[in-house]
Amino acid sequence: MTSHAKLFIPGPTQVAPEVAQAQTRPMVGHRSRAFADLFYAILPRLKQVLLTDQHVYITASSGTGLQEAAIRNAVRPGRKVLNMVAGAFAQRWHHVSVSNGKDAVRLDIPWGQPIRPEDVDAALTAGGFDAVTIVHNETSTGVMSDIAALAHLVREKYPDVLILVDAVSSASGVRIAFDDWGLDMLLTSSQKAFALPPGLAFAAVSDRMLARAQEVPHRGWYFDLLNLEKYLAAGKTTPATPAISLLYALDVQLDRILAEGLENRWARHEAAMQLTHTWAREHGFELFPAPGYESRTVTCVRNTRNIDVPALIAFAREQGFVIGNGYGNLKNQTFRIAHMGELGPDDMRELFRALEPFFQS
Ligand SMILES: Cc1ncc(COP(=O)(O)O)c(C=O)c1O
Repeated sequence: MTSHAKLFIPGPTQVAPEVAQAQTRPMVGHRSRAFADLFYAILPRLKQVLLTDQHVYITASSGTGLQEAAIRNAVRPGRKVLNMVAGAFAQRWHHVSVSNGKDAVRLDIPWGQPIRPEDVDAALTAGGFDAVTIVHNETSTGVMSDIAALAHLVREKYPDVLILVDAVSSASGVRIAFDDWGLDMLLTSSQKAFALPPGLAFAAVSDRMLARAQEVPHRGWYFDLLNLEKYLAAGKTTPATPAISLLYALDVQLDRILAEGLENRWARHEAAMQLTHTWAREHGFELFPAPGYESRTVTCVRNTRNIDVPALIAFAREQGFVIGNGYGNLKNQTFRIAHMGELGPDDMRELFRALEPFFQS
């Protein structure tokens, strides 16, 4: 066994050796022709993966940076943002909204439940909203909400409300039809289903969102979408120094993702999820999410058998595998097994075989 423990946590995830290796390519200046060629060759492939013909941006930050970008660019003075909160990462987005001085209305949904269109509708009907934030895949609860249904509601009834989606732990592992569903900003991080090292964040952004940003003063500088767009459009890549080594890795990983094929990639994630559900049920556990809303990238297992979760995690670690405890208050009441990025059915079988002695002792 190598000293590297295989990661089945919901990020950072396993990175393929050739992707990790790509980071060692020689450094270039970020104002060089070589870098511009790399950057402008990455963008169309990123658009393909994010299912958009509109705008994509890459920032040297983690996903939280783009939670901040979304809020800063979408909400005008005197207008409100609706934060739908059904878990820890949605709660963070609310804190981001408040700490940026926005008038943020928080609607709490019990953890384990999805964000439902009727709840969004009930809140937006009060009026005065510029945007709604929705976490697609709440990594803390293992719940995946139905973004297509939510977007349909908002687009039909509230055409001026921008739909801001955190897909940090789902983008590229699950189909999210950005353009077809009429989303306005989708943000994600490199270290989840994209299976890259941490340090990059990606966004798909609609024309409507850029038009809105024109009406928002004090968008800041680093995460000002209009500034990012200005540099891109002028052929000048990014305003500040990009994370060049990580972009080398992204370059290789986008080719790998497109070579696998998006449909195949989504199907692989779903097959790995099915295996994980079967394993959990066969071992006497229930799943934490409301039925029908289980995440396709991370399974949150309810500790119905009241096992010693830290002991399970330690046992897994001895076998060379890392699985996750529950998040925050859900610690020991749940545990989480991720099936995203590079992982597929064979990896899940390998993990479950290795865990078997724990359940037989
Ligand atoms: C759903 C979700 N949103 C946001 C974040 C924060 O992302 P980052 O750590 O890349 O800033 C995470 C991290 O796990 C997440 O799972």
